[in-house]
Amino acid sequence: MNGLSILGTGRSLPDHIVTNDDLARRVETSNDWIVSRTGIRERRFAQGETLTQLAVAAARRAMERAGVGPQDIGLCLMATVTPDWITPSQACLLHQELGLPEDCPAFDLSAGCTGFLYAMETAAAMLPRMARPCALLVGGELLSRITDMDDRSTCILFGDGAGAAVVKSTEGAPWHALLGTRGNREALWAAGPGNHPAYLHMNGQEVFQFALKTVPELARSLLDKAGMDRDQIDWYVLHQANHRILEGVAKRMKVPMERFYENIGRYGNTSAATIPIALDEMAEQELLRPGQWIMCLGFGAGLTWGGAMFRW
Ligand code: COA
Repeated sequence: MNGLSILGTGRSLPDHIVTNDDLARRVETSNDWIVSRTGIRERRFAQGETLTQLAVAAARRAMERAGVGPQDIGLCLMATVTPDWITPSQACLLHQELGLPEDCPAFDLSAGCTGFLYAMETAAAMLPRMARPCALLVGGELLSRITDMDDRSTCILFGDGAGAAVVKSTEGAPWHALLGTRGNREALWAAGPGNHPAYLHMNGQEVFQFALKTVPELARSLLDKAGMDRDQIDWYVLHQANHRILEGVAKRMKVPMERFYENIGRYGNTSAATIPIALDEMAEQELLRPGQWIMCLGFGAGLTWGGAMFRW
């Protein structure tokens, strides 16, 4: 059975930093409240950058790190809920900018904050049938586009950014993945495009409880599938939604927080981009070493969830 190997990663964030104090000048909130409830200190909001620009920059970096060119890419997947255009897809815009080959299909995946995990597992399934060896996977969002900046219960949580990975289908590479969905339009939603403005709405406590219950169960199922123990995983790379969710999952799994990567304080929740951004930062900081076991876990609107276990 073929599994996925990650050959290179990349990320791109908008330049403009928005602090909690900046938000507190617009809505009734405070730095202390936001930090204590979420762990978020600042986030980036695009000011002029398009999602295409961020996605292209992240993708170019991932391809450079992987040592591959457009001729090596046989599949281009973009996980996003905030594309620049309704059609063609964000993946097609990326395909054009990067000059990818015509036998490289390109399409978007909409699975909320779980999008990058959906893209990974889709690539694992499709790549062996593609004409070229590698897939380009990008998770990217400009959530500021669909965030009501006057709603203090949501505007403090979200941010903009893009992360990318070049993956290869490799015989014998360990790969275990699980995806799930429970259709629900009441927990986390943005209606549109017929409804203007198509803002994000959320039942924060429901999403919080869903994450705390679902993610540890997902991790357990993945470990059972692989016949492994939680202590054999070197790094848990979770979707960055809230520091308290990371802490709660770690506690329920009885895994020390040191094995959970965290950057929520700097970027907030960038939805489908959090996991590839985290992987890229970890690679850059040389936290990831060949042979280490990584477990990525995502959850979000849909409701959706997904996990993947693989070796670096
Ligand atoms: N600043 C100050 N007060 C705020 C506030 C803010 N930014 N946002 C909400 N509040 C208030 C509420 O109005 C409420 O006031 P009340 O008691 O007078 O009604 C109070 O704080 C408590 O609100 P509550 O919603 O119970 O807070 P919470 O502890 O559940 O934290 C979230 C709210 C959103 C931080 C939390 O529910 C959360 O992180 N949920 C998960 C969200 C998420 O991750 N979504 C994306 C998933 S992919």
